Amino acid sequence: IIAQMKGLKQGRLRLAVITTTKYFVPRLLGPFCQMYPGIDIALQVTNHERILSRMSENLDDLYVLSQIPEHLDITYHQFLANPLVVLAPVDHPLAKEKNIPISRLSGEPFIMREPGSGTRSSVQTLFDEHGVSVKVRLELGSNEAIKQAIAGGLGISVLSRHTLGLDGATNQITILDVQGFPISRHWYVAYPAGKQLSVVARTFFEYLLEKAQQVAVDMS
Ligand code: PGA
Repeated sequence: IIAQMKGLKQGRLRLAVITTTKYFVPRLLGPFCQMYPGIDIALQVTNHERILSRMSENLDDLYVLSQIPEHLDITYHQFLANPLVVLAPVDHPLAKEKNIPISRLSGEPFIMREPGSGTRSSVQTLFDEHGVSVKVRLELGSNEAIKQAIAGGLGISVLSRHTLGLDGATNQITILDVQGFPISRHWYVAYPAGKQLSVVARTFFEYLLEKAQQVAVDMS
């Protein structure tokens, strides 16, 4: 009977997720697809601003993002922490210091996410609050490329800790212990309020909330 019920879950699941969730959403999709072989998936991986515009055009079933916009009427559920940390090359002069005052970041060469990125706007807000002005050397729309640039010695950056993947810090990149960090953010799974979710979307929504616990342990 269970097999029959699973077989009944058929159709397409359309997801739009924020860039950093690519470090765990695709992993969760594997077991999900095995459980429900009749479901196929379209996954968009994009930044904060584009997720919001996809949501206002109702292009996807579910959205995973880290900041709930006030001007849209949406239903959402917080399911995982998304801490933003300061990343630097391992040989950076501040790498061995503890409890570094945020003002020490002033003047540091910095690699910044593109306009429209949620990461960028929370970093900018924190820096503005503390009067910190970094030297933006490079703007990049990809967390992976930013990590490479840090490892290559171009500067420091602030990214989700999840961009380090399951292994945490690497032998090339380290997390600086700066006051005010990590910036605490969360992931939410969301959809437009009042939208009737398909059986497939509801199934994934519940699956995601159930699996979040395990992901939190894996990524910590
Ligand atoms: P981003 O998303 O890709 O827009 O920076 C991450 C976030 O909003 O925390």
